[in-house]
Amino acid sequence: MKNIVILISGRGSNMEAVVRTARSEGWPARVAAVISNRADAGGLAFAQAHGIPTAVVPSKNYPDRASFDAALQHEIDRFAPDLVVLAGFMRILTAPFVAHYEGRMLNIHPSLLPAHPGLDTHRKCLEAGEREHGATVHFVTAELDHGPVVAQARVPVLPGDTEASLAARVLLEEHKLYPYAVRLFIEDRLSIEQGDVRIAQPA
Ligand code: GAR
Repeated sequence: MKNIVILISGRGSNMEAVVRTARSEGWPARVAAVISNRADAGGLAFAQAHGIPTAVVPSKNYPDRASFDAALQHEIDRFAPDLVVLAGFMRILTAPFVAHYEGRMLNIHPSLLPAHPGLDTHRKCLEAGEREHGATVHFVTAELDHGPVVAQARVPVLPGDTEASLAARVLLEEHKLYPYAVRLFIEDRLSIEQGDVRIAQPA
């Protein structure tokens, strides 16, 4: 049984998708904890209602990134994670923290990376006049939104789209993509070879 620790900062709908899918598909894994850097993160209530231990490490209480990341790492490691899942965790992470979880930390980002790293991805996509948008799950590396890609989901940009309508279309795909990618990790089907992710056939 593998342990998954999920980090959130807000709504937590991707966390919810992973929890629901893990349970409905009977993964050999459990979500050992949901940890937030904000006490008001909406997703904490869902986790608590589903019997998942929660913790808050308030980023505003720490003077710098290094001290916050050290405290967060301490909290995460109490749950002996095989995998750390960033699900709308809106923090830039320090290099030592990322190195500690190398090869066992995934992130979901709402764009077709390498397009649009950082914030406001839906607005940037509309402003660039692109006809396609999407989401990416990748291993976390020290460079923001740049790690080896596990999987992507694509959606069309439709005439009349607003940031909100485009975000909603992408989010629906995120809720399928993230559980799919996490499951591949849990099944030991992911490896990184020369910076690229390889997906093994099911055993
Ligand atoms: C999701 O769209 C996720 O891709 C994005 O924040 C949203 C969180 O929603 N993450 C990032 O922008 C990370 N750079 P959720 O809290 O409902 O899962």
